[in-house]
Amino acid sequence: MTGAFLTFEGIDGCGKSTQLRLIASQLRLRGLEAIATREPGGTALGTRLRAALLDAEESVDPLAELLIFAADRAQHVKTLVRPALESGHIVLSDRYADATIAYQGAGRGFPAELVAQVVELATGGLKPDLTLVFDLSVAECLARTRRRRTDTGSLGDRLESEDAAFHMRVRDAYLELAQREPERVRIIDASGSVDETHVHVTEVVTEFLEKNTGARSQEPE
Ligand code: TMP
Repeated sequence: MTGAFLTFEGIDGCGKSTQLRLIASQLRLRGLEAIATREPGGTALGTRLRAALLDAEESVDPLAELLIFAADRAQHVKTLVRPALESGHIVLSDRYADATIAYQGAGRGFPAELVAQVVELATGGLKPDLTLVFDLSVAECLARTRRRRTDTGSLGDRLESEDAAFHMRVRDAYLELAQREPERVRIIDASGSVDETHVHVTEVVTEFLEKNTGARSQEPE
């Protein structure tokens, strides 16, 4: 049996990580084997690469950045994602290859063909079965990340500190991906409350699992 690979994407501050946690615990309550992971940083090596990539004080050359995200992904796919899918698990990843297309392709300006080659090399062609793109205006996302920084007293990471024009290119790239691959990439309106967005995510994920894996939900007690 093979599992299902679901990825969660969107610009920084869109709320995808909260939504991933909520749906993962809901799937587990339904008795499904759901593994929550992320990029960068889903493995032990990835945790170290993530720290280097996101350190606001680090100056990282754009090509080095592209290749470090790819190295993180190669390790993640080989040692965690593929084995989990082969064991029949549902893998929920907070970001995956579409993030490289959006951030390093549209954001940094690397040519699409080069980004596609790097993605292919790192993933061995493994594509998500379903990708949720949490969509929200750049202004609202920036306001959310600013609030989070104030609340936690953190500096914010290197990529989320890019300017609004960068984040607009990233958002447009995600919207374009959804237009190009409407079956796989679904847009989730992330402008409502956490609960409202969770209801929408539950609908889309449940419908997908029922159609594609035969997984049947059992209502939590
Ligand atoms: P996160 O804060 O959603 O965990 O993501 C970390 C940052 O890394 C975020 O700003 C997006 C960025 N990123 C890329 O630029 N390229 C990639 O391939 C991935 C996976 C993340």
